[in-house]
Amino acid sequence: MLARSHSSKIGEGIVAFPVLILGVFTLANEEHDKDWTRRQFIVRTGAVAAASAAAPFVRMTEASPWKGISNSPNEKLVLGLIGCGGMGAANMRNLMNFPDVSVAAICDVDDNRMTGDYNDVEKKYGRKPDVYKDYRKMLERKDIDAVIVGTPDHWHALNLIHAVEAGKDAYCEKPVSHDIHEAVTMAAAVKHHQKIVQCGTWQRSTKEFTDSIEYIRAGKLGKITLCRAWINDSFRAGRVKPSDPPKGLDYDMWVGPAGWLPYQTNRCHWNWRWFLNFGGGLSTDWGVHMMDIALLGMSKDNDLVMPTAVSSFGGNLAISDDDRTAPDVMECIYNFKDPNFTMHWAIGQDHPGKEGHGTEFVSADGRTLRVWRGGWKILDPGGKELEKEEAPNPPNHWRNWVDCVKTRTQPRANFASVAQTTIVCHLSNVALQAGEMVKWDNAKLDLMGRAGKNTNAYKRAYRKGYTLPDYKPTA
Ligand SMILES: NC(=O)c1ccc[n+]([C@@H]2O[C@H](COP(=O)([O-])OP(=O)(O)OC[C@H]3O[C@@H](n4cnc5c(N)ncnc54)[C@H](O)[C@@H]3O)[C@@H](O)[C@H]2O)c1
Repeated sequence: MLARSHSSKIGEGIVAFPVLILGVFTLANEEHDKDWTRRQFIVRTGAVAAASAAAPFVRMTEASPWKGISNSPNEKLVLGLIGCGGMGAANMRNLMNFPDVSVAAICDVDDNRMTGDYNDVEKKYGRKPDVYKDYRKMLERKDIDAVIVGTPDHWHALNLIHAVEAGKDAYCEKPVSHDIHEAVTMAAAVKHHQKIVQCGTWQRSTKEFTDSIEYIRAGKLGKITLCRAWINDSFRAGRVKPSDPPKGLDYDMWVGPAGWLPYQTNRCHWNWRWFLNFGGGLSTDWGVHMMDIALLGMSKDNDLVMPTAVSSFGGNLAISDDDRTAPDVMECIYNFKDPNFTMHWAIGQDHPGKEGHGTEFVSADGRTLRVWRGGWKILDPGGKELEKEEAPNPPNHWRNWVDCVKTRTQPRANFASVAQTTIVCHLSNVALQAGEMVKWDNAKLDLMGRAGKNTNAYKRAYRKGYTLPDYKPTA
């Protein structure tokens, strides 16, 4: 059981928080890719193109594509937002651009963070959204069809599992979980309840990454022997003493299932990602984007190739006199058997002449395909740029989710697939925390043997009063 439960209306005296809207999340491309959406697949954790199991909705006309999906009398997908921070807000705004989407309610444990979203919803629809501090109260509403999970990573598992148990589809931010055990459990829950969940790995729906993946999948770079993915890191959280949480923030609920730590400004909103108690550092924050592309390129479809063995080295080596606990240097090597290749993941490196983040595919003959946010290129072994070939345009990522909710098909970043990427990312932290090589048993969806099983990235302890529901993967 969670500790508290109440809903509240936003009132006077609320401080507006500057909501971050990233330019990259604009709705640019409405065209739909034929290949990817057709290439649906099944994995044990539930990437099933399913008919809605729980479809008690009756108000639709026989001809409506929303029949059995939406409760809305005006045939809109009615949303609730859980977590009104930077990315939750950006997702909500993107979805509000669609005429067949409406937002009924917003929820955050911090009153101070809801003002921007509240005002936006009122401006867009000419009515105020309902406001909740406890997401479980919002989930009780029958008129809400789906939710956006935009909370910090340590809350995703409970938010999402409770949402699908309440019959909601979801747009869930990445990484899908705080640890491996949660990712496996969540995927089983999504499959069990047959819900359509798009994850926040929006790079899957952008041109440069789609072009690169299709080029590799078509075998145009030849046999790939090595993938590289990286992110530069120089972020300092600083040293800060614990203090009283600000008025309006239910800090006990913000910590939720994570281990208890007193409030500090440098490890709460947005900054939580630098603390392993709440997130996985850059291995999950950016690894889930950049390694995702490598894994997709090396896989036939969204059912991803998974590594067999993983070793990591590094730690908090570069940034001293700082509270952050997430590694600032990491060199991680993954071994894959089928197909046979190696993947290298790096944090905190300088990559002279390269973007601060990126993914590379290296072929047996020395050609390299490099892709980053904003471009891609193919280089011969001497560094000369080679001609590229484009794939069909991908759909808009958020539109793709809405369409898949309607058709009960799997979206481009379907939950089971992004859970696989998330597990790969967690494995880098597991190996680092274990201080030894760890082995992944993909048949059992578990680590092989004892190595890594006592790490926080494999399975953290839930704080007293919080329990992860028990769902097991099924064949
Ligand atoms: N897809 C992307 O490119 C991308 C970019 C940034 C962040 N993200 C992801 O989005 C998620 C949120 O990140 P952020 O940077 O927006 O964090 P943030 O800290 O800015 O926002 C999270 C919000 O959730 C609220 N919250 C915490 N617990 C809650 C609960 N139990 N119920 C309701 N609200 C709760 C917080 O008060 C805060 O307002 C993370 O998982 C992050 O990895 C994805």
